[in-house]
Amino acid sequence: MSETLTITDNRTGKQYEVAITDGTIRAADLREIKVSEEDFGLMSYDPAFKNTASCRSAITLIDGERGILRYRGYPIEQLAEQSSFLEVAYLLLNGELPTADEHAKWVDEITHHTYIHEYLTKSMDGYRYDAHPMGMMVSFLGALSTFYESSKEVRNPAVRREHIIKIIAKMPTLAAWTFRHSTGRPYIYPDNELSYTGNFLNMLFRMAEPKYEPHPVLERALDVLFILHADHEQNCSANSARAVGSAETDPYCSLAAAAAALYGPLHGGANEAVLRMLKQIGHIDNVPEFIQACKDRKHRLMGFGHRVYKNYDPRARVIKTLAHDVFKVTGRNPLIDIALELETIALNDEFFVERKLYPNVDFYSGLIYQSMGFPTTMFPVLFAIPRAAGWLAQWQEMITDKEQKIARPRQIYIGHDERDYVPLDQRTQSAS
Ligand code: CMC
Repeated sequence: MSETLTITDNRTGKQYEVAITDGTIRAADLREIKVSEEDFGLMSYDPAFKNTASCRSAITLIDGERGILRYRGYPIEQLAEQSSFLEVAYLLLNGELPTADEHAKWVDEITHHTYIHEYLTKSMDGYRYDAHPMGMMVSFLGALSTFYESSKEVRNPAVRREHIIKIIAKMPTLAAWTFRHSTGRPYIYPDNELSYTGNFLNMLFRMAEPKYEPHPVLERALDVLFILHADHEQNCSANSARAVGSAETDPYCSLAAAAAALYGPLHGGANEAVLRMLKQIGHIDNVPEFIQACKDRKHRLMGFGHRVYKNYDPRARVIKTLAHDVFKVTGRNPLIDIALELETIALNDEFFVERKLYPNVDFYSGLIYQSMGFPTTMFPVLFAIPRAAGWLAQWQEMITDKEQKIARPRQIYIGHDERDYVPLDQRTQSAS
């Protein structure tokens, strides 16, 4: 079987043979298809990249039809059960799980870069008491670049590694301090004797006690949530990290762009919408009426459906089990009953079955975060901490990929032809 595509251009009657590699044709090959020598050549038009591969990647695989998610080949379920977030971050960035020695060194390095320059800490006081923590995160990431001039050497592997470690190490500190700022509590400095998530809980919740002791179930639950959120291939924020990084922008500013993308309600904000929806439903008896309203297109069932998954999101399955472990410690979140009833009814309803609408990662995660004491504004920040590892892996892969260049899409120009400038006093037509 020939791995080619034959295209007939009906404008000219000419035939072209285009190579198919990995189920893909190269858009640049279409440029050979011309009506004349002066013609620019054919382009493909794909708003929102719905059917365009922008890179070759070896990091994360999603098979949406079968509900599969793997990091570097390892099923997400196995990683969630047996691994730790820092090990997964290493895996995403380096391609292989660390040996025991590599792991010890990696954890030690991350642990010793958790502090933030005091000048940045002072600048936090400039934000209003009700500043959205995600807006603060976006600006802190950009601000960090001003402390690390060397981070601009993006082609130097040793420098890249140094700043990758710094970013992964500092994300929990920045995140925790946005929370402390919003509650008017003093910032808690990192405790290097605690684990990555244990220290994060310490910086969030420690009050007068001399030594914070994280609850092991909550510490582990957060670690599992971090594993589940660490990467999701070419999503909107990863694509932003790659696009901005392709201009050889330093990793701090590239990640600020990625975090800004994640901030959007269509990306990292859906778990907040799920909580609002569950509160609005209010009682399990109101679920059938709410489902009917979804079918009547009055609103959407938040936390359901996904552009890629047309099956149960494997992350949702893990989170659902995790929720029960967390509730044993924090007390049962009463909204879980409404969530379970919604899921049961929706999964058996023809409308949702036909459209392959299943719970996604956001359906249960907000319930856990709320039970652990996080306000909803912190939800996207909790997403950003682990996703930084994925963004950095995607950014690094882009930088080291010889085929990649500055990201610069084409357009189909639909504006005016050339026209002459009209002086201000002679203009009669208003744009509005
Ligand atoms: N509730 C009710 N109907 C839905 C829903 C939903 N949550 N999602 C999709 N549909 C219907 C939609 O009305 C359409 O029906 P029809 O073909 O009859 O018009 C059909 O399913 C296909 O929907 P679509 O909007 O074309 O699908 P999409 O791939 O463009 O959208 C989505 C994906 C995630 C934006 C959408 O499913 C949605 O809005 N879900 C609710 C919000 C949500 O939970 N978002 C979190 C996504 S996971 C987090 C992340 O990875 O960033």
